[in-house]
Amino acid sequence: MLSEPGFKIVARKDFSDVTYLLEVRHPLMARAARAGQFVIVMAHEQGERIPLTIADFDRDRGTITLVIQAVGKTTREMQASCQVGASLYAMVGPMGIPSALGHAKKVICVGGGLGVAPIFPQARTFKQAGAYVIAVLGFRSKNLVFWEDKFRACCDELILCTDDGSAGIRGMVTEGIRLALEKHADIDEVVAIGPPVMMRGCAEATRARKVRTLVSLNPIMVDGTGMCGGCRVKIGGEVKFACVDGPDFDGHKVDFDDLMSRLRRYRDEERAALARWSDSCRLMNQEPVLPLAGRQ
Ligand SMILES: Cc1cc2nc3c(=O)[nH]c(=O)nc-3n(C[C@H](O)[C@H](O)[C@H](O)COP(=O)(O)OP(=O)(O)OC[C@H]3O[C@@H](n4cnc5c(N)ncnc54)[C@H](O)[C@@H]3O)c2cc1C
Ligand code: FES
Repeated sequence: MLSEPGFKIVARKDFSDVTYLLEVRHPLMARAARAGQFVIVMAHEQGERIPLTIADFDRDRGTITLVIQAVGKTTREMQASCQVGASLYAMVGPMGIPSALGHAKKVICVGGGLGVAPIFPQARTFKQAGAYVIAVLGFRSKNLVFWEDKFRACCDELILCTDDGSAGIRGMVTEGIRLALEKHADIDEVVAIGPPVMMRGCAEATRARKVRTLVSLNPIMVDGTGMCGGCRVKIGGEVKFACVDGPDFDGHKVDFDDLMSRLRRYRDEERAALARWSDSCRLMNQEPVLPLAGRQ
C-alpha cells in the first residue's frame, strides 16, 4: 500500500453539474492499481477521509482517474477546490481486493449512473483477457451520458439505457440485462456497479438463470483497513468488511436491505455538515452551493 503527501491534479472534466472527473498524478499508484480497487482521499489537511473507486489508471502517464458525484459536504468542497494544478493532501491505496476477472468468456458489465466509471476498468480487463464483453450502461437522461466512446472502443456490444428514452433504449439497466440474456444463452458472468437498489435489481435479473453476478458494495468506510467495522456488510448470513473482504461480492448473497439502512444511518449529521459548510461559503461570498443531489 502506498502513501505520499500531495498529489497533483493534472486534468479535470465536468460531465454534468454534479459529476466531475479528476486525473491525479501518482506513478506508483498507477503501476499498482487493478480493476475493482479504490483509494481513500483527504482533499486537505482537515478534510474527511472518503473512499473513491479507481475509475481508470494510465501507467504511461503515471496517473489515476477518479469520477466523483457531488452529494454532500466533502464531495462538493472538492468540486469547488479541486482544479487543475491543485493537489490532494493525501491519497492512500490501492485498497480492496482486485476484481477476480479473466475466466469468463462472455460477460455483461453493467454500470448505473456514477457506476459507469468504475465498471470501465473491469470491462477493459475482461476484453484484454479475451472475453466477449457486453456493456449495459444506464443514465437518467442523455445529458448525463459519459464515456460512451471509451466503452464502444473496448466492448463488443453496448446497450445504452436512459430512464426517459432520450438516448439508447428507454428503461433501466435491468431491461438491458434482459435483452442481453435473451440474445446470448451463454453469458457466464455479470458484473454490476451502481446504487445499491440498482445492484439488487441486477442480481434479481440473473438469479433465475443462475448467472454468477458480482456487485461492488459502497458502505460507509472510515479507515479502509478492516479496523473500525464501519463498512460491515452481510453476505449469505456472514458478516464481512467491504474494505478488506471486498468491495466485490456475490450479488445473489448480499443483504441489500441491511446495506441501505446502514447507508442512511448518519443522514442527519451529513445534512448538518453540508449546511454548516454552505453557510461558511456564503459568509466568504463564494459561489452558491448546488441543491442537494440525488443520493445513491
Ligand atoms: C469502496 C467505495 C468506493 C466509492 N467510490 C466512489 C466514487 O468513485 N465516486 C463517488 O462519487 N463516490 C464514491 N463512493 C462514495 C463516496 O465515498 C461518498 O459519496 C462520499 O464519502 C460522500 O461524502 P460527502 O461528505 O460528500 O457526503 P455526505 O453527505 O457525508 O454523505 C453522502 C452519502 O455518501 C455516503 N458516504 C458518506 N460518507 C461516506 C464514507 N466515509 N464512506 C462511504 N460512503 C460514505 C453515504 O451514503 C451518505 O449518505 C465510494 C464509496 C465506497 C465505499
Ligand atoms: S472501513 Fe473500517 S473496517 Fe472497513
